Amino acid sequence: MNKGDALLKFIVLADLHIVAEGSLSHGLDTTDRLNKAIDFVNTNHADADFVIVAGDLADRGDLPAYQRFEKAITRLELPVHLTLGNHDDRTNFLSHFGPDLAAETGNVDHVIDLKGQRIIVLDSSDRSVGGSGLLETSQLAWLQARLDEARDVPVIIVLHHNITRLHTQNDFIILKDNAEFAGIVGSHPDIRQVISGHVHMTTAGTYKGIPFCTLAGCHYSIDPTLESRSGPRPSPVARREGPGELAVVLSDGEATVVHMEKFIDRHLVIAQELFP
Ligand SMILES: [Fe+2]
Repeated sequence: MNKGDALLKFIVLADLHIVAEGSLSHGLDTTDRLNKAIDFVNTNHADADFVIVAGDLADRGDLPAYQRFEKAITRLELPVHLTLGNHDDRTNFLSHFGPDLAAETGNVDHVIDLKGQRIIVLDSSDRSVGGSGLLETSQLAWLQARLDEARDVPVIIVLHHNITRLHTQNDFIILKDNAEFAGIVGSHPDIRQVISGHVHMTTAGTYKGIPFCTLAGCHYSIDPTLESRSGPRPSPVARREGPGELAVVLSDGEATVVHMEKFIDRHLVIAQELFP
């Protein structure tokens, strides 16, 4: 694979939390919100190379939700790559979409090589760790191999769970083997971004030198109470019905930029005549 100068463009959606027909998720019509995201992408980003849906496709991992999700996502006019989050059920997902969506790891992992760049999509769902995420030993070995064979090109990683604490209420459900993940990822000379959903918040930072960001996604968004150094975890978490947010990734041989775009906005647009 040769490092290219062509501009790679892809979209990340996350946290759809689709429920069965006739149901709402915490009062929200999550399928309607997904449809708004799809319309936004089809209208504004038809030139993107593909879309990644980074987990929590279904709110309770049930088959009717996956059926409803599949029906909705077919309206997207771009290739789609899926992976799972803590709300998903891998057995139900693979029984509906077929075993071919699993990599040799048995998880819904993918490698996409395009325009001289490699995108690695990791399935961090693991029902044994509750809402947290976990990459199995086989997945970590697979990740190392995929990075080793792409040492000469930029790599972007997408997975559901955030890879470090964000100093918010939800720090107890992050990627549990984040130190092992960072040890492997840190061996690659050109990691551009690790992009996650899960937290329903927009953040950016670094973890052990690895740049990461999180997108607020399609479901409710969280107004975090940043942790105090001594006090107990504050609760309850304040949740807003918007905005709905997706990530637009633009990446070439030199730089990778992530734009967080709102496809549902809780603010009014300021009239054009106020900007003479
Ligand atoms: Fe999640």
